[in-house]
Amino acid sequence: MDKLWPIGARMDEDEELWLGGCAASELAERFGTPLYVFDEATLRQRSQAYQAALKRRYPASAQTAYAAKAYLCLALAQLFAEEGLDIDVVSAGELHVALRGGFPAARVHFHGNNRSAGELAQALEAGVGRIAVDNFHELELLAALTASRGSDRLPIWLRLAPGVQAHTHAHIQTGQVDTKFGFTIAGGDAERALLRAMSAPGIEVVGVHAHIGSQIYQAETLATAASRLIEFAAQMRSRHGFILAELSPGGGWGVPMVEGDPAAPIESFVATLAQAVVAACRAAGLELPHLALEPGRSLVAQAAVALYRVGARKEIPGVRTYVSVDGGMADNIRPALYEAKYTARRVVNRKSQIAERKSDHERVTIAGRFCESGDILIRDIVLPRLEPGDLLAIPMAGAYTLAMASNYNLAPRPAVVLVRDGQPRLMQRRETLEDLLARDLPRGRRFHKYQALGNDYIVLDPADWPLPPSPAAIRRICDRRYGVGADGILWGPCEPAEAATPAVPQGARPFGLRLFNPDGSEFEKSGNGLRIFARYLWDRRRPPGRQFAISTAGGLVVAHVLDEDGSRISMEMGRLSFDSRAIPVAGPPREVIEERITVASRELRITAATIGNPHCVVFVDDETFEVSQDLEGLAKNLGPLLERQPLFPNRTNVQFVRPLDRHTLRMAIWERGAGYTLASGTSACAAAGTAIRTGRCASPVTVQMPGGALHVEVAGDWSVRLTGAVEPVCRGEVSEGLAGECPMPAGGRSPGSCNRSPRS
Ligand code: LLP
Repeated sequence: MDKLWPIGARMDEDEELWLGGCAASELAERFGTPLYVFDEATLRQRSQAYQAALKRRYPASAQTAYAAKAYLCLALAQLFAEEGLDIDVVSAGELHVALRGGFPAARVHFHGNNRSAGELAQALEAGVGRIAVDNFHELELLAALTASRGSDRLPIWLRLAPGVQAHTHAHIQTGQVDTKFGFTIAGGDAERALLRAMSAPGIEVVGVHAHIGSQIYQAETLATAASRLIEFAAQMRSRHGFILAELSPGGGWGVPMVEGDPAAPIESFVATLAQAVVAACRAAGLELPHLALEPGRSLVAQAAVALYRVGARKEIPGVRTYVSVDGGMADNIRPALYEAKYTARRVVNRKSQIAERKSDHERVTIAGRFCESGDILIRDIVLPRLEPGDLLAIPMAGAYTLAMASNYNLAPRPAVVLVRDGQPRLMQRRETLEDLLARDLPRGRRFHKYQALGNDYIVLDPADWPLPPSPAAIRRICDRRYGVGADGILWGPCEPAEAATPAVPQGARPFGLRLFNPDGSEFEKSGNGLRIFARYLWDRRRPPGRQFAISTAGGLVVAHVLDEDGSRISMEMGRLSFDSRAIPVAGPPREVIEERITVASRELRITAATIGNPHCVVFVDDETFEVSQDLEGLAKNLGPLLERQPLFPNRTNVQFVRPLDRHTLRMAIWERGAGYTLASGTSACAAAGTAIRTGRCASPVTVQMPGGALHVEVAGDWSVRLTGAVEPVCRGEVSEGLAGECPMPAGGRSPGSCNRSPRS
C-alpha cells in the first residue's frame, strides 16, 4: 500500500486489511470498535529514520525527542524510551507517563506557556533535563525557585518567536509575531529575557528553542526559523557573551494525509534543516550547537489506523449520502477543528448476509456518531458501497487523535492495540461505563427511615451510597444517641444476590436487598425490614405493579402493596422449615420440636425453625412457667443466653410466646445481633408456624408484640404471608461524620452490585 499506511500494510484479494500481520476484521472482532491499531515496525522505523538522518546529516551532536502531545500511553513511552529517543512533555500528566514508561528525567524536555510555580517546582524535583521557558512570568518563577542552587545552576532554553509564518492551518501556526508562545525576537523581548536569565544566579541559559507550527511541508520554512535563532544567538554572543550550546528548532514536520499529498521523507527534511544550521553557524562564526529535534506527528501519524464499524446510511437524493460510523469527533476531532483531510478504505464484512454485494463505487460523506452536525470524519470520498457491519479503516490516525480524544456524549474512549508479527497487544483498554463514573460522587448521603410495628429501619439507596456502608458507619448511623437510630440498615435496591426466578406472575426482575444489623453484621431476612423496603420502593422507585419480588441472601420474597398509599403491605416470606440442617441446629438431622435444653440452670423446651434466618421459640404455657410470667423479662434474661447456645452455630433469634387463643399469640423477642426488640416480622412468622406445628394454633394467627400486631397466614406447605402497617418516619442527609468511614466507589467496582462474601 502507499505512503499513508503503516509499513507492510496490505489489502488481500478478499478485501481484508492486514496490519502488522494481523487481520483488521479479527482485531475489530476481538477488541471492538472504534479501534486504534498501531504498527510497531512503523513506530520503530520512523524513530530510527530521524536518528540515522541526524547522524548522517549533522556533523555535531544531535538527538531526537518525541513530542508526547501527539499521543502518549505507557507502552508507547516504553517503546520510544527503548529506541533511545528523548521526550518532550508539556504537563504533569505527560511527565508522569514518560517517567513511568522508563524515560530518565534527564531525557525529558518540559515545555509550556503558563506553568505554575507548583508545576515548575515539580519538574525541578523530578530532575527534568531541560525546561523551555516561554515568558517573563515563568522566568521570574524559575529564578525564584532556583535562587539558592549555588553552582548547580538549572540549564534552560528560552523559547523564542522568530517571526516566521508557517504555511499550515492558522490554529497550528505558532512562530509568527502574533502568537501567545515565546519571547519575540523582533521587539527586543528575547534579548531582555536573555539578560534577565543570565542575571539569575540559579539559571543557566544553555540554548534557544522555537516551534513555528505543525503539519509543515516546507523544510525551508523550518530551516529559516532555525537560522533566525542562530542569528539571534550570534548577536547575543557579541553583545552579552552568550554561548549557544544547544539549539532546539522544535517539531512540526508534516505528513501526507490523502493520496494527493506529496510524500514527506524525514531524511530530506533533516538534511535541509541541518544544512541551514551548519550554514548559519558558519556565517556567524559560531560553533555547532547540539541539535535537538522534537517531532511528534511525523513519528506516530503513519503508524496507526483507526477502525470503525459502519452503521446507518442516509441518502438524500441529489444532495449527499451520509454513512455513519461508530466513532467520530470524540476520538478524532481534527476534521472538525482543523478541516483536516483523511482518506479511508472499506474492509468488507465477510459475515454479511447480503448475497450479492454491490461493488460499485459511490461518493459518500463519513459521519461520526456524535450529536453535532460538524461531526464529519471525511467529506466526499469515493468508496465501494458501504453496508452496515463493514469496517472503515482510516490511515494516518496516530497523531493528535487519541491525544485530543474526549468523552463527548459520554462515549468511552477507544481501545488501542499494538501489532507486530501477527501478534496484537492491547496498549490501552477501551474505557468502560464504570470508568465514566470513576470520578463522580453522589450528591449527598441521603437516608429514609420507616417504621413497621415498632421496628424502624433506615434505607440507604445505592444511588446515594454506591457501596454498602462499612460496619463502623452502620453502628454510628443506627446508634440512637449519636446517630439517626434504627433497628437496622436496608441497602438497596442493588443487583439481586443470585439469578433467582421471580415468583411473581409475568415476573419482573427482582430488586436486590442487603440487610444489616445495628452492630454492623449482615443478616438474611426480616419481615418488617422487607415490608419497609417494599414501601420505600413503592414510594420512590415505583415498581411496575403492586406485586414485586425482592431478592435477599435469605431467598426471594414477594411483596403485595395492599393500599395505594403503601400503608399496608403484605409479604410472601417463603417457606418455614423445621429441618435442623436448614436452620441450622447442631447434632443429628431432625426436627427440633419442644426439645429439652438447660439454660442458666433452667429447663426450657425449644422449637426451632427457619424462614431464611434461624429462630428458637419457647412457648410459655407449660408447668415450668408461672401463669403471669413476664415475657419481656424472659426475652431479656434468657434471650442472650439462648442466642449463643452451641446448638446454634449461626446464633439464633429467640422468641418467648404465650398462646392466647387458637388465632392469637403474644410474644417478646430477643433478636440476634440487635438484642431486645419491640417487633420482628420473621419472628412473628416463626412463632405462628411453630404454634401451628405444635398444635397450639391454626392459621391465620395474629401475633401481638409490644410494638404492634402482625397478621400471619400459613399455608399447608408452610409458606407464610405476613401483613401489617408500614409508615415513613423521617428522611434527611447524614453528616459526613456518620458516613465518613463509608467507602466511596473506587475505580472498577460497580456501584450497587452485590459482590458479597459468604456470611460467616
Ligand atoms: N514541540 C513543540 C514545542 C510543540 O508545540 C509541538 C506541537 C511539537 C514539538 C510537535 O509538533 P509536530 O511534530 O507534532 O508537528 N493538534 C494539532 C497539532 C498541534 C501541535 C502542537 N505543538 C493537530 O492535530 O494538527
